[in-house]
Amino acid sequence: MFLLLLLTACTAAFFYIKWNYTYWQRKGFPYYEPKIPFGVLDEVRKRKATFGIAVSDVYRNTKDRVVGIYLMTRPALLVRDAHLARDMLTRDFESFHDRGIHVDDEKDPQSSGGVFFLKGLDWKSLRVKLTPLFTSGKLKAMFGTVEDVGDKMVNYLNAQLPDEGAKEVEMKSVMSTFAIDIIASVILGLEVDSFVEPNNAIRNISRKINLPTFGNVVRGTCQFLYPGLERLFMRLGWREEAPNMMRDLVKQTIQMREAHNISRKDMLQLLMQLRNKGEINADDNDWSATKVGKVDSKHMSIETIASNLFLFYVAGYETTASTASFTVFELSQYPEVLEKAQRDIREALEKHDNNFTYEAVQDMKYLDLCIMETTRKYPGLPILNRECTKDYPLPDSNLVIKSGTPIIIPLLGMHRDEKYFPDPMRWDPERFLNKNYEPAAYMPFGEGPRHCIAQRMGRVNTKVALAKLLLNFNIEVNPVRKEIEIANFGVPIIAKDGVNVRLSKRKST
Ligand code: HEM
Repeated sequence: MFLLLLLTACTAAFFYIKWNYTYWQRKGFPYYEPKIPFGVLDEVRKRKATFGIAVSDVYRNTKDRVVGIYLMTRPALLVRDAHLARDMLTRDFESFHDRGIHVDDEKDPQSSGGVFFLKGLDWKSLRVKLTPLFTSGKLKAMFGTVEDVGDKMVNYLNAQLPDEGAKEVEMKSVMSTFAIDIIASVILGLEVDSFVEPNNAIRNISRKINLPTFGNVVRGTCQFLYPGLERLFMRLGWREEAPNMMRDLVKQTIQMREAHNISRKDMLQLLMQLRNKGEINADDNDWSATKVGKVDSKHMSIETIASNLFLFYVAGYETTASTASFTVFELSQYPEVLEKAQRDIREALEKHDNNFTYEAVQDMKYLDLCIMETTRKYPGLPILNRECTKDYPLPDSNLVIKSGTPIIIPLLGMHRDEKYFPDPMRWDPERFLNKNYEPAAYMPFGEGPRHCIAQRMGRVNTKVALAKLLLNFNIEVNPVRKEIEIANFGVPIIAKDGVNVRLSKRKST
């Protein structure tokens, strides 16, 4: 009897698996031969590639506009055509407005109440409320704090480097410290200097998130691939530590500010304004958040504030640090570009009477091109993802993408495809001046209504780090041009052996 049951169960499992992995075949879509049971994640399981690289490999090894793939057991659609991808993100946004990742903002607002996660109208309403945080007026008002962090980085490097000659510096860790302190001060309003005191509250939260522990790996995978399972973990009480630590930190800071009537120019203050007054003040000089009547927490609960600040931390830290450090690395390989970038920074400052202001940084146009080129070659996120939210007839075909299908746009693959960017491994900021590329394929901050809400802030912060560095230090040119070797872990592009560059002090700035 037992053997019969076992046989029946095995036969049923065999047919279910066969049926599941023929999804794309049955729907008539071109597909990538699945490796059962991991699909395109097989290389990730073997620790031979990251998710982004594995998807990029499928992109390079296929030809069709769309290709059916399997993310473990889940069928997903890889969109290989840049124009089609752009249409889905913009014109046809109505059919692709969600990311399809774990959301339980009712029971789990701390982990999933961030604007990145929310769906449909909940997302739209929060996005509208948060957009005024990132206007140029607000960024300009907070600029002094960003510059201070840049100066702390310069002090740190001055202490590390010899007075004469050059020394090798691992730029990723320097830029990570810069990015963490920006988040801590500009976003959370904390007075920290991680260059001098690396064991502060925000660094401790950062360590919790970045450790590749069993829990972090399981939760990260489920959040993206099996949102139902992630919801179950949350409901069973398996809480993540980092969001809770962030909530406590945010709560203490809000209580302290309210008790002592403290007002600071940072994002926490703006979110307190939203909570206490119902909206973010359009006047860039008015940062007060004094309560008007009874607080209506539907505008913004403390959980939602903490959740979004935590999200800004996660979304802003690695992206800014890697964009800045990869730019320094590439500048060390292209002396003619380095020279032009240095001249651009000097000229922009001269135009502003040598004052390092928000406007001067805006005028560093060549530096903008350098950042554009870095975010092309090393996009902060190697893929963009959406969920099909309404059955979508694929243009110029008789195929229909079913509602609920995960959509993957292989950003890294497209950004390094010579069809779109000639000589793609060459780091050439001037390709954007010469218009020597396909604009539809360039989406480093995403595209459409759900693009990066803080694109402007990401650019400004990265420019401050680079301009401060180039004004105060020489980057030694690498005699032999080489490529960064990408590590086989994590979602973003991480350099396997760090980003090592030789720096020396500049005699005059
Ligand atoms: C160089 C720096 C940055 C890069 C390259 C970058 C890139 C991206 C990308 C590719 C997306 C996905 C867009 C899409 O799906 O269409 C995104 C979304 C997002 N980013 Fe950034 N980002 C950067 C900096 C920041 C910073 C500093 C913050 C916060 C302070 C931030 C907050 C967000 C948020 C909240 C979203 C989700 C938007 C939504 O779903 O409505 N990013 N970012």
